[in-house]
Amino acid sequence: MFGFGQLIAVLKKNPKKIIFTEGEDSRILEAASRLLASSFLHPILIGSEEKIATAAEDCGFNIRGAEIIDPGKYDRMDEMVERFCELRKSKGVTPEKARQILSQANYFGTMLVKMGVADALLGGATYSTADTVRPALQLIKTKPGNNIVSSCFILVRPRATGDNEVLAMADCAININPTEDELVEIAGEAAECAKIFGVEPQLAFLSYSTHGSGAGETVDKMRNAAMKASQKYPDLPIEGELQFDAAVSPRVARTKCPDSEVAGHANTFIFPDINSGNIGYKIAQRMGNFDAYGPILLGLNAPVNDLSRGCNASEVYSMAIITAALA
Ligand SMILES: CC(C)(COP(=O)(O)OP(=O)(O)OC[C@H]1O[C@@H](n2cnc3c(N)ncnc32)[C@H](O)[C@@H]1OP(=O)(O)O)[C@@H](O)C(=O)NCCC(=O)NCCS
Repeated sequence: MFGFGQLIAVLKKNPKKIIFTEGEDSRILEAASRLLASSFLHPILIGSEEKIATAAEDCGFNIRGAEIIDPGKYDRMDEMVERFCELRKSKGVTPEKARQILSQANYFGTMLVKMGVADALLGGATYSTADTVRPALQLIKTKPGNNIVSSCFILVRPRATGDNEVLAMADCAININPTEDELVEIAGEAAECAKIFGVEPQLAFLSYSTHGSGAGETVDKMRNAAMKASQKYPDLPIEGELQFDAAVSPRVARTKCPDSEVAGHANTFIFPDINSGNIGYKIAQRMGNFDAYGPILLGLNAPVNDLSRGCNASEVYSMAIITAALA
């Protein structure tokens, strides 16, 4: 079952470079100093060299060896502007406008990933989710075969037996009201992500209804999405629509849907919309004592992840490892 040791072992074999867009933030500096003390991840801090050095000194973090890139002094800025204009040509972006946009660390850092200077990006310690995610949607874009970028949270809780219970929940952070087809794509991506964390995915399409016990548009949406997903991914165990109790409790499952293999044992949960997903993962985190990692963005051409603005240095450190391991 999942532990960070597995992801670190992967990175040790193939160390990655990760951009931190908020290079002067004390939580980023603390996480960077921890990463620099080992050799599996190379942090690149965006910001002014002088300000970053002063902030690190003020906080007492040793960031010797960190690469710092200042958008105002970047020697490949002309090339970056040209690539940016090319990528956004359908929007008629002028070089002057591009230069202005690229002076912002979120866009600048994302272009560094696009240009191959780094493998991955972690931002959002001060930027909002939208301001971290939008540059990735516009510049990194969805990988071939995908129509949307979505997200999932990985929830981890130690068991009394010593191993970890690991669950995946999607989409709790990006798509506000996904369609049936988008839910199918979200499910496929969430299942792949769950596998990276050692989960053998068993997917439940959640609802307030179990197999027709309730009726309504969103019930139909989840039932149809589960059916389409079963057709698209015949090797994945998928059930829906299910209430959460039927999804996780073998006793309830025996009563509400006795013929289902997944019901009672689901570990990868697909929510009908962002309200239910976001509320659901936070209930697991705050009241179920799960550690929540994410949102992990799914379906992008390169890993970009978003921190919560309330994050601490330890969460930055963990998310940096997860983000880089996905590269
Ligand atoms: C993700 C999100 C920020 C995008 O919003 P936005 O930037 O206003 O979206 P826009 O419609 O202006 O689209 C911007 C670009 O991203 C693309 N895009 C938007 N959503 C996308 C998605 N889910 N997948 C792929 N591309 C997407 C658009 O096509 C557009 O591309 P273009 O500029 O090349 O035409 C928005 O869906 C959102 O706010 N989601 C909720 C975020 C949130 O608050 N989460 C809770 C806290 S974790």
